[in-house]
Amino acid sequence: MKHSKCVNSEYKTCESSLCCTKINNFGVKRSGTEILKNVNLHIHCGDLTAIIGPNGAGKSTLLKAILGEITHSGELQFLDANNGTTRPSMGYVPQKLDLDSSSPTSVLDLFAAAHTNLPIWFRYPKKIRERVQKSLSRTHGEHLINKRLGDLSGGELQRVLLALALDPIPNLLLLDEPVSGIDQNGLELFYQTVSMLRKNYDLSIILVSHDLNLIAEYADRVAFVNNHTIECCGTPQEVFSNEKVIQTFGLDWSSRFQKVEKDRVANAFMV
Ligand SMILES: Nc1ncnc2c1ncn2[C@@H]1O[C@H](COP(=O)(O)OP(=O)(O)O)[C@@H](O)[C@H]1O
Ligand SMILES: [Mg+2]
Repeated sequence: MKHSKCVNSEYKTCESSLCCTKINNFGVKRSGTEILKNVNLHIHCGDLTAIIGPNGAGKSTLLKAILGEITHSGELQFLDANNGTTRPSMGYVPQKLDLDSSSPTSVLDLFAAAHTNLPIWFRYPKKIRERVQKSLSRTHGEHLINKRLGDLSGGELQRVLLALALDPIPNLLLLDEPVSGIDQNGLELFYQTVSMLRKNYDLSIILVSHDLNLIAEYADRVAFVNNHTIECCGTPQEVFSNEKVIQTFGLDWSSRFQKVEKDRVANAFMV
């Protein structure tokens, strides 16, 4: 079997006239230990890039460094379509959220706290409620507006957090294993929503995930984090055919892609 070559920190270069987020030569040290080094990634607007890798590889660290929550070396740039550079605006859905399930805080309270200075015993102005309703509709969560956060299912909470991360619409959306503990239907729905959002809003999305089947179906690019850096980056087919990735996840994805290719050719002959 032919394996694709794993090139250290290979990345698709931003093309002119397209907006793009550039992560250039990122490095992170924590408590004197090197967690990440020489990380390069370019993400076009409208593209979903999945980050995969073993536990402890540094996936969450990379997202926190991009967010500016932890110190890093290297630079982060957003290139707009006219080739102007700024820092990208960002939305983030974290891996874990420690909620007090007995708290009376509602979904509306959460959004109002993020967007206004109003205390939660205040009656919110109509325009706040309308804004929250509009935000929630982006992830099909309009009906959740008055629910207590503690009463939301895992899938509902993720839809609310995703809607919050999209208000206002950012240049770059960062999702850190946002669907752990959600059933298969909820998972599929989440990926469909994210996939639809990236095209509708021309969003660059970085998604840390272990759901290799769904990544193969929905991601435009995959980056494999291992040994403190991005060891392999490319299309799902390229990355899942890579020997190191196959070894790490114990799967042979090339047969899956060979089958997809065979089906494609067979269908082409049927036309
Ligand atoms: N605050 C910290 N201080 C020192 N090391 C840390 C800290 N946070 C995470 N690490 C280490 O960084 C490495 C990467 O962690 P993380 O980014 O959470 O991995 P992943 O998300 O890929 O599972 C791990 O070895 C972890 O122990
Ligand atoms: Mg993590």
